Amino acid sequence: MIVDPLEALAPVLREAARIALGEEVAATFDPALRGSDRADAQANFAMALAKKLGKPPREIAQAVAAKIDAPDVVASVEVAGPGFLNLTVTSALLGKAATHARSADRLGVAQAEVKDTIAIDYSAPNVAKEMHVGHLRSTVIGDALARTLAWRGHRVIRQNHVGDWGTPFGMLLEHLVDVTGGAGAGDDASVGELGAFYKAARGKFDTSEAFAERSRKRVVALQSGDAETLALWQRLVAVSSRYFQDVYEKLDVTLRDADICGESFYNPRLAPLCEELERSGKAVVSDGALCLFPAGFKTKEGNPLPLIVRKSDGGYGYATTDLAAIRYRLSELHATRILYVVGAPQEQHLAMVMTAAKELGWLAAPARAEHVAFGSVLGPDKKMLKSRSGDAVRLVDLLDEAVARAAAVLAEKAPELSADEKDALAKIIGIGAVKYADLSTDRVKDYVYDPERMVSFEGNTAGYLQYAHARIRSILRKAAEAEVAPGAIVVTEPGERKLALAVLGFGAAVRSVETTLEPHRLAGYLYTLAQTFTSFYDSCPVLKSEGEVRASRVALAELTAKTLAEGLSLLGIHAPERM
Ligand code: ARG
Repeated sequence: MIVDPLEALAPVLREAARIALGEEVAATFDPALRGSDRADAQANFAMALAKKLGKPPREIAQAVAAKIDAPDVVASVEVAGPGFLNLTVTSALLGKAATHARSADRLGVAQAEVKDTIAIDYSAPNVAKEMHVGHLRSTVIGDALARTLAWRGHRVIRQNHVGDWGTPFGMLLEHLVDVTGGAGAGDDASVGELGAFYKAARGKFDTSEAFAERSRKRVVALQSGDAETLALWQRLVAVSSRYFQDVYEKLDVTLRDADICGESFYNPRLAPLCEELERSGKAVVSDGALCLFPAGFKTKEGNPLPLIVRKSDGGYGYATTDLAAIRYRLSELHATRILYVVGAPQEQHLAMVMTAAKELGWLAAPARAEHVAFGSVLGPDKKMLKSRSGDAVRLVDLLDEAVARAAAVLAEKAPELSADEKDALAKIIGIGAVKYADLSTDRVKDYVYDPERMVSFEGNTAGYLQYAHARIRSILRKAAEAEVAPGAIVVTEPGERKLALAVLGFGAAVRSVETTLEPHRLAGYLYTLAQTFTSFYDSCPVLKSEGEVRASRVALAELTAKTLAEGLSLLGIHAPERM
């Protein structure tokens, strides 16, 4: 059963091309279907074929159009402009497809034909540090991709590459000894707030030579596996993981403790990896450091840019861990697609790691690795978002503020709700607003964090979509009370036609996120769908109509509500029944 009527056009055009232009042309024929404002779809194939066939595109388009013979699918076809086809599908097909989608599992959208194992590296906060807005973006975008790709039927493996190892742990562990009294003493509450904890450790490190000396010794003890030091380290990791988990729950993202595969996980692999690379001659010693020189990367002076896998002091860095991680994901997790949801500033680092992995023969087709880059969150002054004190904004403060604002909007707009209902809704709307503001903008761009606009129910916001969904649900409740059952969807009026076409485009919108890894495409689709419903509702009364028309419109409304809720859930946003 074809759900998206526009998809039904491709085979029809291919068959017409076969008759009009011959088998050879048909074998590689791409109808080049696009959306259109004039008709349901536009087919641009004639332009691409003109050169090959040595004929004007209009002539080719005309020839193919004349051979279209599919009265069940195509209602009208017209050659336009330089030689494209404007196509309209039949109302019968739209009605049938919509009727099927309403009652089918997954709205009738098929799973991906080729299933990937997808490792998604996202969130990745640092132990004993406050999560900041950069981690917000990675967490929200990564989680939306994880949900969407899993829905397409891929095997998704979440990889939370937390920063839980390295030299800063010397000062952090010494500070932990100071505040708790040592590995077995004190309680975790004395660690207090992580941002302040980190700052205090840093402060002592910068001002007290004795503390700095203790810290350096502590790093050595950590690296050599000293038991007491490891116990301290584990304690700090545990406190931080609990904190991350709190944030994830507040944010309503799917990450759990089991998804943590942090930098420390790769420790035992680093020395053998370096030895192997050195022995095979793939890495070379340069200025005392063991380096790879992936092709295409140059220093400012034009010399080959090294990816340092072992520093001259024998230590391992961020790059070593990332090399071990990409190898692990490919050879042990058997990932066929690896996504790095990491800020744009790390572009070169990740490109070097991926190129090195290809040159080392680890990363080979069909497996692929992609950097899902994103821009910065800006304040009202268009500079990096900062708190009043000039520090990075604490993620939790940001979320609490959004929830408080949503509560204020609700108090004004829905005074009839009980206090409990308002509380629950404020969370759903506030958190949804933060996520949607992020996901609805092209991720590579920076965006201005504007909490007032975010929680509004007007414009391209989560609240608008949630409200649109709740409004349809309320119509459906009224229909149920009046004992009006949804029936077969019959498309007659232009408003019905537009809505049916829009709602059936859901699968295509989800697939576009799957290929481009750009959640804003799904967000934009949902926004248009909600607007299309509003125009439908203005021109096509639902409860006030009668008989089969009413049953059809109720069914179309229900399909729209289901689609809005499913789409929002793929973005990680709840769609409440009422608000
Ligand atoms: N912990 C890093 C940060 O806070 C992000 C890690 C990203 N993932 C990776 N495989 N390098 O910037």
